[in-house]
Amino acid sequence: MKYITKELVLIPLIRNLNLLDSTKYQEWMMNVEVTKYTSHRAFPLITDDIENFKEGLNTNDRIVWSIFNRFPTYEYIGNTALDMIDLVNRKAEFAIFIGNKNYWGKGYGTIIGKILLYHAFMVLNLHRIYGGCVEFNTGMQKVFTKLDMINEGSSVDGIYLQGRYCNICHYAILEKEYRMNYKNELFIAKE
Ligand SMILES: CC(C)(COP(=O)(O)OP(=O)(O)OC[C@H]1O[C@@H](n2cnc3c(N)ncnc32)[C@H](O)[C@@H]1OP(=O)(O)O)[C@@H](O)C(=O)NCCC(=O)NCCS
Repeated sequence: MKYITKELVLIPLIRNLNLLDSTKYQEWMMNVEVTKYTSHRAFPLITDDIENFKEGLNTNDRIVWSIFNRFPTYEYIGNTALDMIDLVNRKAEFAIFIGNKNYWGKGYGTIIGKILLYHAFMVLNLHRIYGGCVEFNTGMQKVFTKLDMINEGSSVDGIYLQGRYCNICHYAILEKEYRMNYKNELFIAKE
């Protein structure tokens, strides 16, 4: 499903489709600032990695959307996904990657998160959505909190970044908590 809000358009990336701008994707993945809270830069990105990423798009357990800013220019700014979709236990992992850092801090992460939760609970009928980030990724932690996701604790030394072990903070929300606060005000259109 494609989602349109006042600010953004989210388009599902269909497997191998050329909607994914490989040059931009590669540029973001190799940007020190953009990837500083992720493990993306541990190995150099090669063409095969991009092909593998494309090949793994929208399989049975994964939905990836490309994110476009609408104004003032229509621009591809990142990707977002529901990953590890588990239809037996009705849960999935949530991921947001705004690769163009000019669009950080504008409320987009929160809007994208709301769309992911809508799709997870109201379209896929999932029960639990979870996600995590490194302890000093304040922006992502604020996004989780603004989405009413609960901090369930940390994996101590869960990731090795910039020369030291760091904790990973885990957040989750259940369907009933989501439905309790759901307001139908986000989309201009769903297609
Ligand atoms: C993390 C990320 C998704 C946040 O998205 P965003 O669009 O910047 O978030 P929002 O604008 O919705 O901000 C939510 C809150 O976090 C704050 N915030 C955003 N970035 C911040 C930062 N770097 N440091 C401190 N606070 C930050 C905002 O000010 C806002 O706070 P407020 O509600 O009190 O005003 C985005 O920065 C990103 O994609 N980064 C690169 C990849 C990444 O780290 N992804 C997460 C990996 S788990």
